Amino acid sequence: MAYAYARPCPSPAYVTAREVAAVSLTHPVASDHQLARLLQIGMVLEEVVEARAYKHHETLAADELDADIVELLEEAAEESEEHRKRLEELVDELEADPVAYEEIEALVAARYEAEADFDGVLYDQLCNEETAYKFYDDLIGAIESSEVTFSIDRERLLTVLREIREEEKEGVEEVTRLMEDRP
Ligand SMILES: [Fe+2]
Repeated sequence: MAYAYARPCPSPAYVTAREVAAVSLTHPVASDHQLARLLQIGMVLEEVVEARAYKHHETLAADELDADIVELLEEAAEESEEHRKRLEELVDELEADPVAYEEIEALVAARYEAEADFDGVLYDQLCNEETAYKFYDDLIGAIESSEVTFSIDRERLLTVLREIREEEKEGVEEVTRLMEDRP
């Protein structure tokens, strides 16, 4: 998928990932430590997506939620949880000093509280999925362009990240379909 941030995308996860990732993903990954940090940023990103999907579901009035949207939000939350766990497994395998997860989380803490525009649940979901796709795409590129030997098998690492990226892409397509189907 040729990717570009084609529209203004106000989702907190989007803002966060761009802020956090911009400084880290423009160069090849240089060490286990840096790889661990980037994977942890991914974990936080997934956590934000998960939290927002639940929050949308909770906050929206029943008459605003049709079955398609409920299903989408549930799937998005479940998928993010699974992605987070897969990233955590990779981090655990790395021979890197544990990075203070709280430090990374603190970067996005304020974002959890951001007021959502609930007219735009689908739009917000779209931004989240696109952000995640872009994040993994950049991360894969930064690993591919790195010549470092990581303490984790590179092919396994890339396989997991490519699988997750593929699921984000499917997420973007699914939300886009739902948006197109709506009046
Ligand atoms: Fe994800």
